[in-house]
Amino acid sequence: MGVFADVRPSDTAASELRFRRGVIISGGPGSVYEPGDPQVDPALFHVQVPVLGICYGHQLLAHHLGGQVHKGERGEYGIAHLSVTVPDPLWNGISGTQIWMSHRDSVEVMPPGFRIIACTENASVAAMSDPERRLFGLQFHPEVAHTHAGTRILENFLFDICGAVRDWDVSGRVPYLEDQIRAVAQDRNVFFFVSGGVDSTVAYTLCLRALGPERVYAIYVDTGLMRQGETQFVRDIFSELGATHFLVDHAEQQFLKALDRVYDPEAKRCVIGEEFVRVQERILATEHFLDGHWILGQGTIYPDTIESGGSAKADLIKTHHNRVAGIQALIDSGRIIEPLSSFYKDEVREIGRSIGIPSRFLSRHPFPGPGLAIRCLCSATEDGATKSPDGTLLPVRSVGVQGDSRSYRQVLAVEQKPSLDLIVNVAPELTNRRADINRVVAVCGSKAQLDDMSVFCACVTKTRLDLLREADGIVRELCRETGFEDRVWQFPVVLLPLGIDGARESVVLRPINSVDGMTADVVLMPPDMLDRLTSELLALRGVAAVFYDVTHKPPGTIEWE
Ligand code: XMP
Repeated sequence: MGVFADVRPSDTAASELRFRRGVIISGGPGSVYEPGDPQVDPALFHVQVPVLGICYGHQLLAHHLGGQVHKGERGEYGIAHLSVTVPDPLWNGISGTQIWMSHRDSVEVMPPGFRIIACTENASVAAMSDPERRLFGLQFHPEVAHTHAGTRILENFLFDICGAVRDWDVSGRVPYLEDQIRAVAQDRNVFFFVSGGVDSTVAYTLCLRALGPERVYAIYVDTGLMRQGETQFVRDIFSELGATHFLVDHAEQQFLKALDRVYDPEAKRCVIGEEFVRVQERILATEHFLDGHWILGQGTIYPDTIESGGSAKADLIKTHHNRVAGIQALIDSGRIIEPLSSFYKDEVREIGRSIGIPSRFLSRHPFPGPGLAIRCLCSATEDGATKSPDGTLLPVRSVGVQGDSRSYRQVLAVEQKPSLDLIVNVAPELTNRRADINRVVAVCGSKAQLDDMSVFCACVTKTRLDLLREADGIVRELCRETGFEDRVWQFPVVLLPLGIDGARESVVLRPINSVDGMTADVVLMPPDMLDRLTSELLALRGVAAVFYDVTHKPPGTIEWE
């Protein structure tokens, strides 16, 4: 919103925050009664700085100011309607709105001096405020796209209540960033490990502009876990940007060997992270990058600095952030340039646009660092599918989110074509009612009865990756051809080791829409496109079934692992 903001640990002393224009206490999976869960300095509520508590932050506010929080068992997750019951500065221009609820505990008794300012059908205290002291609490999440007036609520807090001004403008900062790069680099050259993602490419291009192509090196590691044509695409983009030193390291064999017989999703991420460390160490040694003439460039953005230590309480999100000893030495001796470390993702794109990075690159769908490995599900055991009155329970578990923590549960397949009714009514009812599942899939087509199918032992192999690449390639091509790619934010294609003898794999389609990946909605595909896709995928050797994931996030995550 154009306001400078920084993220601090929740227990930052009130004395450090007293001169801020305002403080927002975020949500989180904690409970105010749980020892060890995040706390705030209660003096914060007495230093006359406006405070907005969101979800867990709202509960902390009630807890510390003499209210009571009720420890819930089941909680409330999903869309609700907020009715504004009392006028409040927070509600300027808002009379009611769709909101997103995601909480277990709730505020039962209001703290003295506060009043309830809005309600929903289920939440007794959906929002509360003490406008005199400028303290506000929201049980729901204004920061997610599902809360329609969320941005307006945050603007009301920032501009009307805190009196903040829009003073943070990224366009126009490029010359300053380039000056900074020259000042840090001095007469040394810069090298980057680039991923083909937006952040490292924008950071690299800023350095290229500041120092010229002779002084900036890009190394791209081909892990063998990438999509069809990816290495060539990245090579072409870098060449278009004017890179003259672009090295590709072919490490496919190394990654495949390390992933042999690794089944657990988090173990796979760790193995990939460790292998990356080895590859980087080898490159640092062979290219003499540690000899004092070089500094390391990185595409670290502001949220990364929060994830890796800015906030000690951030829940486990990405587990592949391993550090190479040589790189740690470069960081420790200050030989590092991170030109984007104070920017959010949308600002990085804006910088990218202003320095001429092609929009076909900047508008690419996000793709996970560990690549197709986390879309190629594995199993150490064999197990059969089972019929239940609600559908077929697949012997496959996938990751989900509940509140702000994770779940790892089975998948239910229903023998219906994907439809709005399935997405909006059937799937939420099933995932709410059944504690054994966190995800529902529709069957688009199969070569056998679902309850005759089994999960087979499988890990990440070249054959399976090639099949997934081919399936993913078919999906991407059709999405491009039909323009469907512009209607989704991301479209993972997942391979399950589920099928029958002779066709031991299944493909899951997971098209979703999202703003930031924190929550996501299933996107329905036109039926004729789905029919065409299903028949092309079923024609692939070894594919037994095609499914369509009809689960929003939450309760399912975007990726399956
Ligand atoms: P989930 O599956 O948690 O994904 O809903 C949210 C977003 O994060 C991406 N993602 C990852 N990105 N390394 C990454 O770089 C990972 O291990 C990883 N796991 C999930 C996912 O693609 C989605 O955009």
